[in-house]
Amino acid sequence: MRSTAVVQISDLHLKPPGSLAYEVADTAAALRRTVDHLNRRQPRPDAVLITGDLADEGAAASYRVLREILSGLACPFFLVPGNHDRKDPLRAAFPDHGYLEGFLEPGARRAMCYVIEDFPLRLIGLDTVIPGEHGGGLTAERLRWLDRTLSERPAAPTLLFMHHPPFASGIGHMDAEPFVLRQELAALIRRHPQVERIACGHIHRAVHRRFGGTIAMAAPGIGMQLDLDLRPEAPSVFVMEPAGFLIHFWTELWGEPTLLTHVGTVPEQPGHYGGPYPFFDVASPEKSPSGRSEKG
Ligand SMILES: [Fe+2]
Repeated sequence: MRSTAVVQISDLHLKPPGSLAYEVADTAAALRRTVDHLNRRQPRPDAVLITGDLADEGAAASYRVLREILSGLACPFFLVPGNHDRKDPLRAAFPDHGYLEGFLEPGARRAMCYVIEDFPLRLIGLDTVIPGEHGGGLTAERLRWLDRTLSERPAAPTLLFMHHPPFASGIGHMDAEPFVLRQELAALIRRHPQVERIACGHIHRAVHRRFGGTIAMAAPGIGMQLDLDLRPEAPSVFVMEPAGFLIHFWTELWGEPTLLTHVGTVPEQPGHYGGPYPFFDVASPEKSPSGRSEKG
């Protein structure tokens, strides 16, 4: 079978040229490092999914920066909006990304929901933005669209990607806004067991849990990470830990098709963290006369 490496990055929080996010974070530099790192990875990513908060304040100038930096990616990429995004300037900056049309809901609200059929892993982008809200969720129309779309190919292994996770993270200030229609989404996912993952952003941290009979997760941020404070009264603060990403790797191992999700870190520059160095652990001294093994 054909393997597919789908990378997910999230929460870029780009600013117009010359400004730092929250007067601290050079988010454009972080995205440039990420693009450079992903282009060097083996295997090369087949696609990159970017799960929202592309721009920090939704400025048209920020989407132009986004377009310029992403033009350096050596593979296709697909965008979904987050609560920091504005859909009209986003669409205007990517006129060649026709999938951003999505569909119109009552009240002429655009839902940027779409399906990508180009890979052995079926990719479904969902728009979880509620206009004017920091928290997110789905609507009856989006759930109906998802149900219909999943029903079209019940045997196709599928990854859903979206900005807001449909679960609480344990980071108190993020949990004050429950995901709208999360129970309905969980029930829907249970009816479609081909859903291998629900891959989200918004939390700026890697977090995983069971949801609707599948595995749901949030990706680390690119622009900054939320402080890992699991108290209900956790303040809304971020830290400049390294940017991270997920690789959703659809492949066959030990005779079984499987979707693995690995977490990677973006170095400040190639080799920043040291290595690669060969392992010389004592793995099984009784079997190895030298006591050395080259496996970690
Ligand atoms: Fe964010």
